[in-house]
Amino acid sequence: MDVYEAVTSRRAVRGFTDRPVPAEVLQRVLSAASWAPSGSNLQPWHAYVLTGGPLAELKKRAGERIAAGDPWDEPEYEQYPPALKSPYRERREAFGEQRYGALGIPRADVEARQRAASANWDAFGAPAALFCYIDRDMRRPQWSDVGMFLQTTMLLLRAEGPHSCTQMAWAKFHKTVAEILSPPDELILFCGTSIGFEDVTVQHPRTGRAPLGETVTFIDG
Ligand SMILES: Cc1cc2nc3c(=O)[nH]c(=O)nc-3n(C[C@H](O)[C@H](O)[C@H](O)COP(=O)(O)O)c2cc1C
Repeated sequence: MDVYEAVTSRRAVRGFTDRPVPAEVLQRVLSAASWAPSGSNLQPWHAYVLTGGPLAELKKRAGERIAAGDPWDEPEYEQYPPALKSPYRERREAFGEQRYGALGIPRADVEARQRAASANWDAFGAPAALFCYIDRDMRRPQWSDVGMFLQTTMLLLRAEGPHSCTQMAWAKFHKTVAEILSPPDELILFCGTSIGFEDVTVQHPRTGRAPLGETVTFIDG
């Protein structure tokens, strides 16, 4: 698979089969992803890869919290600006329409949207998940380094066959994740990434993108 194909075939997959992802694939992907660039080569990410019993236990505990109506954990970072301005607000609304529209859930049905969103904490049925942490001392450029590491990981997964879905949703239950992983206190959970083989029976709308002119300016001499 060439790089263009890896980029265009990657999308947020939200339904996985229980076919395991071989440990050697995960090892190979993460060994290669460690070549992702970072400012001054800090490599400011720390990833935990969960499969088998520990992942099942995490899903069980998260499911119990949802069933009990537990509030989300105190956030360790702001996921979005408090008031999204244009054009980001419209893009987010369009995404919500697409994501929940594909499931036949109207915008007004907040409860049904929440029910659908709760699949996040089952890792959408995935047999593997990567939890990506960053040291709380780090600054904005290092968060962007972590993004590059994650995208490199997701593209390499495509080359090997599996799909993925990165999820900030896991940060809302960071204490439950920490119960399973016991990360050092200086780390913040940025996100989880579900990893597995796509369940093709689940509806996946392809998200669109803004026209290139909205996000890129070419300046020619
Ligand atoms: C940092 C980050 C966090 C995300 N968090 C979630 C999430 O919590 N739940 C979810 O279903 N998708 C999540 N996504 C997936 C985005 O919704 C998705 O990437 C976006 O809508 C573009 O669609 P595509 O990835 O299918 O091209 C996240 C993506 C990124 C990069």
